[in-house]
Amino acid sequence: MKYIMLILLISMSLALYSCNKGLDSPLGFSLPKGNSKIGERVFLEYKCLACHSLKGIEDSSIAKNKNISVLIGSDKTHLVTYAELVTSIINPSHKFSRPYSDIEKTSEGVSKMKNFNDVITVTELIDLVSFLHPYYEFIPYGQTKYQYYPQ
Ligand code: HEC
Repeated sequence: MKYIMLILLISMSLALYSCNKGLDSPLGFSLPKGNSKIGERVFLEYKCLACHSLKGIEDSSIAKNKNISVLIGSDKTHLVTYAELVTSIINPSHKFSRPYSDIEKTSEGVSKMKNFNDVITVTELIDLVSFLHPYYEFIPYGQTKYQYYPQ
């Protein structure tokens, strides 16, 4: 049994490794280092708080969207890589943060997140992601609130 599991694990790792080598692979994706202080200003300026909440960041002048409230930068049970974070901003329909939540997408499966691609500059995006990424903390599954049985 142990050997079957080992063989399974090795073949899965090889499969994943080869996925990463394709032409569509995010391997090698890299943006320059941003300024997180400016990123915070970008986050407020573009009114991301209308649909999102972020620990410790408030601005009462931003009107809240009545239907959408997505917590960002929280503890995740999987690693949120830099590339995933950038993708969730410029291509939000690519992968839904919470696929089971119908409130966040249209009946066609398109994210209800506002499209910022024509307004946000690349420099602003770089700073914004530098600001947001440290808010994502990786928590192994057993330690989240979804914990099913006591350890
Ligand atoms: C009109 C509402 C709306 C606005 C405004 C908005 N978002 Fe979103 N955002 C969403 C929705 C809905 C989702 C969840 C579905 C998805 O992932 O596309 C989401 C998801 C995200 C996620 C992934 C969530 C996670 O952590 O798993 C990030 C990151 C994000 N938004 C960043 C931003 C930033 C940065 C801004 C401002 C520049 C912004 N959003 C503005 C609606 C919005």
